[in-house]
Amino acid sequence: MVKPEQPVIPEHSLDRDCTTLSRHVLQQFAGFTAEAQDISAIMNRIALAAKLISRRLSRAGLMAGTLGFTGETNVQGESVKKMDVYANEVFISVFKQSGLICRLASEEMDKPYYIPENCPIGRYTLLYDPIDGSSNVDINLNIGSIFSLRQLEGDDIDEEARDMLQSGDKQIAAGYILYGPSTVLVYSLGSGVHSFILDPSLGEFILAEENIKIPAHGPVYSVNEGNYWQWEESIREYIRYVHRHEGYTARYSGALVGDFHRILLQGGVFLYPGTVKKPEGKLRLLYESAPLAFLIEQAQGKASTGTQRILDIVPEKLHARTPLIIGSREDVQLVESFIQDWLRRKSEQPVTA
Ligand code: AHG
Ligand code: MN
Ligand code: MN
Repeated sequence: MVKPEQPVIPEHSLDRDCTTLSRHVLQQFAGFTAEAQDISAIMNRIALAAKLISRRLSRAGLMAGTLGFTGETNVQGESVKKMDVYANEVFISVFKQSGLICRLASEEMDKPYYIPENCPIGRYTLLYDPIDGSSNVDINLNIGSIFSLRQLEGDDIDEEARDMLQSGDKQIAAGYILYGPSTVLVYSLGSGVHSFILDPSLGEFILAEENIKIPAHGPVYSVNEGNYWQWEESIREYIRYVHRHEGYTARYSGALVGDFHRILLQGGVFLYPGTVKKPEGKLRLLYESAPLAFLIEQAQGKASTGTQRILDIVPEKLHARTPLIIGSREDVQLVESFIQDWLRRKSEQPVTA
């Protein structure tokens, strides 16, 4: 009789179980400095927000008042879901009386939210998309949260939020939480991209993968092709190209975080281009495009509007939108080449009266 093989338990499994998010954050600083403790505490609070949102989502279909719309419209002109409101409040609540974050700005709030008791010591601003992919909430599909951390500059109460109107290179941390079959948190402090999985039995985010690098090219293109009729010819030409060449496959979940996560791990490109009528596209620079661009560059990928690096853009307003082409370096470059080629041809056309 053949003996069943003993399961191989990797030696480092206990070490890995003990590599929690807060420990990992501290390891990235040279010493136990005030900054290291601040950032570790901030990440810990973000993890708490993730756990609260994840817990509610896991029971959403069983609880009254959780699914569906509120009947309100947000500053983006989009219908607000009950989960958008809940998650937005969670991020505020976890930072109240924390001494960590002076100001929060979210896709769901017209103006930044100011926590005066934190400001004497918590010189940071958190920008976030509380629920990304809201249309997936009511059908139990993957959704996410996106966050971006900046150093507070200028006045505490700056309703115009001028100090936030700076390039994405000013981010000191960025990341997202993906609420899927498991809850995953991915973050960067500017030295690599790292992923953590929530172990519900421990209530802790445990290290899954360090220094994630995106492949230089991947098979996936991720775009809402229903917008084909509204696009400029350059994007249509790119889409016709992938339709006519071997090796491409389409994936689009309706939640940027989910599509981005697939591409980060397996390669490919996500696009949300502008349209003829709305050249700025749909995605918000400060809460969506810039944080993910920060991550993708740390993973050796690329993020672009088609003509400009996302992290170079200085927004004119808090809720500014931008076209987004993000993912594997070669795939983003290919989309850019279609856009640039088309712009060149357009500029060479004779001007008709
Ligand atoms: P949000 O739910 O925060 O408004 O973001 C939705 C975004 C993004 O997650 C997704 O990729 C895209 O909008 C989907 O938009 P379309 O339905 O237009 O494809
Ligand atoms: Mn979003
Ligand atoms: Mn959102």
